[in-house]
Amino acid sequence: MTLPFSELTADLDDIARQGLYRSRRVIASPQGINLEIDGKQLVNFCSNDYLGLANHPDVLDAFKAGVDQYGVGSGSAHLICGHSAAHHALEEELAAFTGRDRALLFSTGYMANIGVISALLGRSDAVFEDRLNHASLLDGGLLSGARFKRYAHADAADLETNLNKAAGRKLIVTDGVFSMDGDFAPLDELALSAKKHDAWLMVDDAHGLGVIGERGGGIVEHYRLSQDDVPALMGTLGKGFGTFGAFVAGSEALIETLIQKARTYIYTTALPAAVAEATRAGLKIVIEESWRRDKLKQLSEQFKQGAEQLGLTLMPSLSAIQPILIGDSQTAVAISNTLANAGFLVSAIRPPTVPQGGARLRVTFSALHEQRHVEQLLDALDKAMAGRK
Ligand SMILES: Cc1ncc(COP(=O)(O)O)c(C=O)c1O
Repeated sequence: MTLPFSELTADLDDIARQGLYRSRRVIASPQGINLEIDGKQLVNFCSNDYLGLANHPDVLDAFKAGVDQYGVGSGSAHLICGHSAAHHALEEELAAFTGRDRALLFSTGYMANIGVISALLGRSDAVFEDRLNHASLLDGGLLSGARFKRYAHADAADLETNLNKAAGRKLIVTDGVFSMDGDFAPLDELALSAKKHDAWLMVDDAHGLGVIGERGGGIVEHYRLSQDDVPALMGTLGKGFGTFGAFVAGSEALIETLIQKARTYIYTTALPAAVAEATRAGLKIVIEESWRRDKLKQLSEQFKQGAEQLGLTLMPSLSAIQPILIGDSQTAVAISNTLANAGFLVSAIRPPTVPQGGARLRVTFSALHEQRHVEQLLDALDKAMAGRK
């Protein structure tokens, strides 16, 4: 008799042979631009803490005060006895921030996406997703049981072709800022298509909220789109807002439907109230400190210019995500390791997170980086990529 799971070893070996093996680095310091890993200091260029709020003193103080007031665990799901005044206040503040009627907190973005799509659609409906959507959106579409169609990346014309053939309720789903590419969805065109075909539009703006737009209103601020144009807006709190969790914002009817029907809302423990308090402090900084967004733009611009001079292949990104396309997975990992040895943390992103042959180094910036950090990274990249460009 073989030991349980022993046959999985061959699968793991296969993953490793393809250069796709994933492993974790153990961090011993607070989240920020300087991380301690295995006793070594690295400058961090792969976090989604774009505004540098994950370890901001105001956010930490609010978290500690939240623990004093509410304890650590929330005790149950929101619909049982887990919905605190802190959660409620944060929902109201997020609704005001996004200019939507209401907002509803979810424990993670992954759960929000699965919950929304499954609550809105059933077997007689259809969901249309950008080919490069985040895994949680794709999983949500598949789990909903609706007819599942993927359209070409950022291609409203291809979406139109698919919409023409659809029956039942129709939901168009897209990332706002694409997480692994950094480019924007053509949201103005998608909103027009949605109206023309009487379809709903859902946007996951995990990487845009707090970061894009003068006020940090994200992709909908960039395109000046209202709740009427984008009726379901989803955002995560673990990126630009510096904490953890997610929310969906929209009309009264949408939010009440989610409370009644979204299984990933109903059947899970509410995130800790102290996290909600910390997020309220993060949101205040998002609103008040636009210099963080300006700084991100400057750093990204400096990096783009420097990388172009070095002959690196960048992607058409307008955000704080600036991936360098490598292609081969093993090469991407080798360069990432060389950079780590030189003191820079840049993650190699490989299939299936990105398409086959699309392995890349996903460079991200934080408002806490300085010009010199970008110069040092460019210098290290030049050395690490010598002979590989
Ligand atoms: C576009 C996008 N949507 C959703 C998620 C999931 O959010 P969370 O980490 O809160 O589960 C992520 C990444 O984490 C993401 O990049």
